[in-house]
Amino acid sequence: MARVFQVPAGSSRSGARRAAGTPAVPAPAPAPASGEQKAGIVAGYLAPHPPHLVYAENPPQNEPRSTGGWEVLRWGYEELRRRLRAHRPDVLVVHAPHWITMVGHHVNCVPNPRGISVEPIFPHLFRYHYDFRTDVELAEAIVEEGDRAGLVTSALREDGVRVDYATIGALHLANPEWDLPVVSLSANNNPYYYSDASLAEMETLGAATRRAIERTGRRAVLLGSNSLSHLHWDTEPELPEDMSAERPFNHAQYAGDMELLQTIREGPTSRLKDAVPKHIEATSSETKAGSLTWLLAAMGWPDIAGDVLAYGTVIATGNAVVEWVP
Ligand SMILES: [Fe+2]
Repeated sequence: MARVFQVPAGSSRSGARRAAGTPAVPAPAPAPASGEQKAGIVAGYLAPHPPHLVYAENPPQNEPRSTGGWEVLRWGYEELRRRLRAHRPDVLVVHAPHWITMVGHHVNCVPNPRGISVEPIFPHLFRYHYDFRTDVELAEAIVEEGDRAGLVTSALREDGVRVDYATIGALHLANPEWDLPVVSLSANNNPYYYSDASLAEMETLGAATRRAIERTGRRAVLLGSNSLSHLHWDTEPELPEDMSAERPFNHAQYAGDMELLQTIREGPTSRLKDAVPKHIEATSSETKAGSLTWLLAAMGWPDIAGDVLAYGTVIATGNAVVEWVP
């Protein structure tokens, strides 16, 4: 077993498996066009971002090569992609926990972010070349609406700031073609150090996001990029995708995830206002970072059930792909 936290970037094995040459970079997509369909939030997805899922797919943008793994979760994402296409969105709006901003909520307003996103704990699995388009008008509208609602907000305008792996991972898994513009929001909290006190602020950020989407007339799909139970191994097998080593951290973590998912499947979403903090307390859930609460608040806590498309563990953390259509 290799120590996960001490694995050097680009082991000899992953280097040997890596395809030679420069990864393909997708061409820019056409400008957003709302057309005649109704504007607003057309769907929301719980879209976790384990780098292992991207590694397992072997997309040309990611340098390491794999032999597969975590198939059931990846099949769930394949279903998410089919459904996302059917909603015909103009834009994907993503809130992810690893763009941590200690002061305020930041929105990426850089028109064409491009660079290499690296997972700092798993650099041997995720070194991803990204090149995508931002819906700057919507991004700026979210900054304005957040500010108007009393939140500390900031527009990121510095070209070349590396985009975190959670944002890139969720966006790749939801739309590997990268042919839709994006708005990326930071997490004004830390999933590891703080309580769930900041979840209340995600209500305000969610409502501000919704107002900005409606004001700009976009058809938006929201991605809340959180894993569920979040205790994990600190070692990994010699072959990272060796599924004989993959299982829940313990029974309590698994049971906590199932209780939350049952609540999601039964609905309505308002039950999650109590269930999410309880789940965080029981499982150290990554939803502490607020992405799921932002997602549901932006949708106005709709009176519906969620559709769980897949559940599986990644280095023992629980991960679910879920759809809500308001
Ligand atoms: Fe994460």
